[in-house]
Amino acid sequence: MRKALAFAAAAAASFTTAALAQDITVGVSWSNFQEERWKTDEAAMKAALEAGGAAYISTDAQSSAAKQLADIESLMAQGVDALIVLAQDGEAIIPAIQAAADEGIPVIAYDRLIEDPRAFYLTFDNVEVGRMQARAVFEAQPSGNYVMIKGSAQDANADFLRGGQQEVLQAAIDSGAITIVGEAYTDGWLPANAQRNMEQILTANNNDVDAVVASNDGTAGGVVAALTAQGMEGIPVSGQDGDHAALNRVALGTQTVSVWKDARELGKAAGEIAVALAGGTAMADVEGSIMFDTPGGNSMHTVLLAPVPVTRDNLSVVVDAGWIPLETLCQGVSGGPAPCN
Ligand code: GAL
Repeated sequence: MRKALAFAAAAAASFTTAALAQDITVGVSWSNFQEERWKTDEAAMKAALEAGGAAYISTDAQSSAAKQLADIESLMAQGVDALIVLAQDGEAIIPAIQAAADEGIPVIAYDRLIEDPRAFYLTFDNVEVGRMQARAVFEAQPSGNYVMIKGSAQDANADFLRGGQQEVLQAAIDSGAITIVGEAYTDGWLPANAQRNMEQILTANNNDVDAVVASNDGTAGGVVAALTAQGMEGIPVSGQDGDHAALNRVALGTQTVSVWKDARELGKAAGEIAVALAGGTAMADVEGSIMFDTPGGNSMHTVLLAPVPVTRDNLSVVVDAGWIPLETLCQGVSGGPAPCN
């Protein structure tokens, strides 16, 4: 009898928790979940949602802007109270923002801009990421022929990054110290596309290339593969995201910098802000929010987090932060920079 009572109490308790958890459901629409970093973002988001008593449901558009519209429709049909959207295409997504606004569902533009002031914009300072990438490459190679491997043309981040890179390189371009001999967007941010673009640029320039400003670690991987095929690995290359393979390349000396955006912080912030907005908090009252003027002429409620450049000089920072195990960072490295020495 006691046992039965205890069982009933436990069942009731778990029922209450489940019922509470169902009170808020947050739908997350990913654009290209195959990218390494989004798994980290997701884990942090899930933890923050759980802590806030909210349930998590998600979809992956698999790099299709059309699928992402259908995905958001399906998340809404499942009754979400807030949406977190990593947009595949910052323009094509706008009808989904309209549909959410019509139903009073708050939307977080996650990591990538959506040109609609009804969305709350949560990201890292992407222009600063671009400056950090160019600074590190420029420090390693202050003259010669540069290649710019950009992100997806459908993602506003690509041009934010490129803008920051240009700011840093402009004086050296003006003085003639640097010449940009090739520049390409990377369709869908896919490493294979970056590799193909890099191969074509190398061919067009008879391999006369001294440095590559690549806009993220995935594209840097494609670039390094193209360089390696020509025996040119080791020339300065940038990236961002702190992908494990990229940090290992920094340790090995085949990548100069990975601008690290701690995705755990971004995911956590998204979960917390989604719960707050779903609970009726006004966008202006979100802690730390500022107004951000977008290229499209909108003024948006925004939280901007700060990136950290990781080079051979401060590699320990990612191990100390529990971002990457020492063995993974230093795999295949002998006598490398600290902590791989
Ligand atoms: C960008 C993001 C980068 C990178 C890229 C690839 O929008 O800011 O960190 O991961 O997408 O999907």
